Amino acid sequence: MKYFIGNWKMFGVPKSINILKKINDFYKKDVNRNKYKVIITPPYTLIENYSKYFKNKKIFVGSQNCYQKDQFSSNTAAVSSYMLKKVGAKFTLIGHSDNRSEGDTDKMLKDKVKFALKNNLKVVFCIGENHKEKKNGSTLNVLKKQLINVLNKKLDSKDIVIAYEPIWSIGTGKIPTSQELKKTIVHIKKELHKIFKKNVPAVLYGGSVDGNSVKSFKDLKEIDGFLIGGASKSSKKFIDIIKNYYR
Ligand code: 13P
Repeated sequence: MKYFIGNWKMFGVPKSINILKKINDFYKKDVNRNKYKVIITPPYTLIENYSKYFKNKKIFVGSQNCYQKDQFSSNTAAVSSYMLKKVGAKFTLIGHSDNRSEGDTDKMLKDKVKFALKNNLKVVFCIGENHKEKKNGSTLNVLKKQLINVLNKKLDSKDIVIAYEPIWSIGTGKIPTSQELKKTIVHIKKELHKIFKKNVPAVLYGGSVDGNSVKSFKDLKEIDGFLIGGASKSSKKFIDIIKNYYR
C-alpha cells in the first residue's frame, strides 16, 4: 500500500474543502485506487469539519502536530492527540522540520509519539538532514540518531509511518538523485529493522514532490509513498502526482 499525504501547513479555510472533494472524486474513479491511501493534514481549525465530511469516504484527515501531553493540560494554545482523536483525526505528523526548528526536542517528540499512539492516532514521524549535514556527509548518521532517539521496540510499529524529508529539499524544487535517495531509504529501513525487528514501518519521501519530480521516483520500489507540501494545495497538482506515479 502506498501513501500520498498532503500537508497543507498554514493554508486553508472551510471552503478549501472543495479541493479535497475533487481529489475524492478522482480517487473514486481511479483504476489504481486499491494501491494507495490519501491522507490530508489541514490546520487544526479544519480537522473536525473535514473529518465529518470524509467520515465514510476514502480521504483520511490527520493533523500536522500534537502536544506532548495526554488529554488536557494548562498549556496555552496546545492541542493534544486525545483532543484531535475526538474531532476525527486518524493520523498526526510528528517531528516535521518546521516544528523541530521551532524547538521540538527528541524528548518532546518521544512524548508526542507515545501519546499519539495511546490515543489511537497513527503517527507519521518526520526525519531529515539539513543542507550543512548533507554537505559534510553526515546524512545517514543524522537520520539514524533521529530514529533511535525517539522510536523504540515497545512502540507498535504498525501504527507508525516514517517520512524522510531532507530539509534542503522542502519548498526549494531541489530533489535528491534517485541513487542518493535509494541509498538513504535503504539505510532508514535497515535502522528501522534494527529497532523493530519485524513490521518495519513504511518509509515515505517528502520535499518538492510534484507531478514532474514524482516521475523520477517511480522506479524506486523502496519508497512507500510521498509527503507533499506545496502541491497538495491544488487538487490538479495533487492528482497529477498520483496520475504520473502510476502512468
Ligand atoms: P514541499 O512539497 O512544499 O517541498 O513540502 C514538503 C513538506 O514539508 C511536506 O511536509
